[in-house]
This record gives sequence, C-alpha cells and structure tokens, in this order.
Amino acid sequence: MTQVRLMTESDSLELSQVIKEVIQDIPYYNDLAKSNEIKKFSASALADKIREDKYSAIVATENKKIIGFCLSRFDDYLIWLEWFGILKNQRGKRISKLLLEELEKTTHLRGCHKIWCDCRTTNEASKHILSAFGYQQIATVSNHWYGQDFILWQKLLAK
Ligand SMILES: CC(C)(COP(=O)(O)OP(=O)(O)OC[C@H]1O[C@@H](n2cnc3c(N)ncnc32)[C@H](O)[C@@H]1OP(=O)(O)O)[C@@H](O)C(=O)NCCC(=O)NCCS
Repeated sequence: MTQVRLMTESDSLELSQVIKEVIQDIPYYNDLAKSNEIKKFSASALADKIREDKYSAIVATENKKIIGFCLSRFDDYLIWLEWFGILKNQRGKRISKLLLEELEKTTHLRGCHKIWCDCRTTNEASKHILSAFGYQQIATVSNHWYGQDFILWQKLLAK
C-alpha cells in the first residue's frame, strides 16, 4: 500500500538515490540541468534541507521503500515546488496527486498562501497533472534555466 509522509533524516541516502534515478531518466532536461539538479539533492543536502524546514521533503513509499518524492522550499511566504517525481515502474497510479495533496497540507503550517513552480514546456505529464490539480499558467519563459524553455505555474490556496 502506498503511503505518503514527511521525509526523515534516515531517508536521506535512499531518497537521494531515488531522485537521481528519476532525474537521470528525464527526457526533457539537458545534461547540464540533470547534473546540477542531482547535485542539489545529495544525501547530506537533503538532511540539511529538512533540518531547515521539516515540511520541505515528502516521500511516497510502497512496502517501506521510497518510490516518489515532492520537494519544496519556503520562498518569501510562497512555496516553491521544486520537484515531484515517481520511479518509472511505479507510475500510472496517480501517486503524484497524493504528494501534491500532502504538500498543500503543509502550506498553512509554513505561513504560505500560494504554491508556484515551473515545468519544461515539453513535459506533457507534468502539464496535465498541474492543470488538473488547479495550477494556472503564469507565463512561458524561453531560453531560461539551463538554456531551456519553461512554463511558470501558480496555485492560490484557500484560506
Ligand atoms: C510527472 C510524474 C511524477 C507523474 O507520475 P504519476 O503520478 O505516476 O502519474 P500518472 O501516470 O498516474 O498520471 C497522472 C495523470 O497524468 C496523465 N499523464 C501521465 N503521463 C502523461 C503524458 N505523457 N501526457 C499527458 N498526460 C499524462 C495521466 O493520464 C493521468 O491523468 P488523469 O489523472 O487525468 O487520468 C512522473 O511522470 C515522473 O516522475 N516524471 C519525471 C519527473 C517529472 O517530470 N516531474 C515533474 C516536473 S517537477
């Protein structure tokens, strides 16, 4: 059974490996983007991240193994959704919806009224999920992070 919970320090190594596996395999990102994003979420960086903000990493587990994640950070009273991802062999079960729901539960606890994020213009799965979950497109920015094109999204949260 799939469970969704906050990451703990003992998850650091396993989660960093899951993040690496998901990012490595993404067709929408160039090599520069992949290597930088993977570096950002090393085991030690993840441990530091949740020491600073315990709500900033959510994991999905199946039989106690991490199969998905949702990473975010406090951004001047907004939440910046950094990444959500599911291991390839666990996709198709709408687990990202569970992760995004769990993220929303943390926003008021973190004093935030809005979530915002980006996705690559070619990431159809992400575009579908964000739209279905009530995110609205703000703008498309060309030649942006890592020289690639991105859509910016936001979701205003109920009080
Ligand atoms: C995005 C991601 C997390 C979704 O995984 P998931 O939760 O298993 O998603 P599911 O396969 O259950 O699909 C959820 C919905 O998206 C739709 N979807 C999935 N892949 C799609 C695609 N390539 N194009 C359009 N829609 C797609 C499904 O049809 C489903 O729609 P529905 O709920 O309306 O029926 C997963 O594809 C992933 O890890 N991708 C790599 C990382 C990434 O791109 N993250 C997002 C940017 S931060």
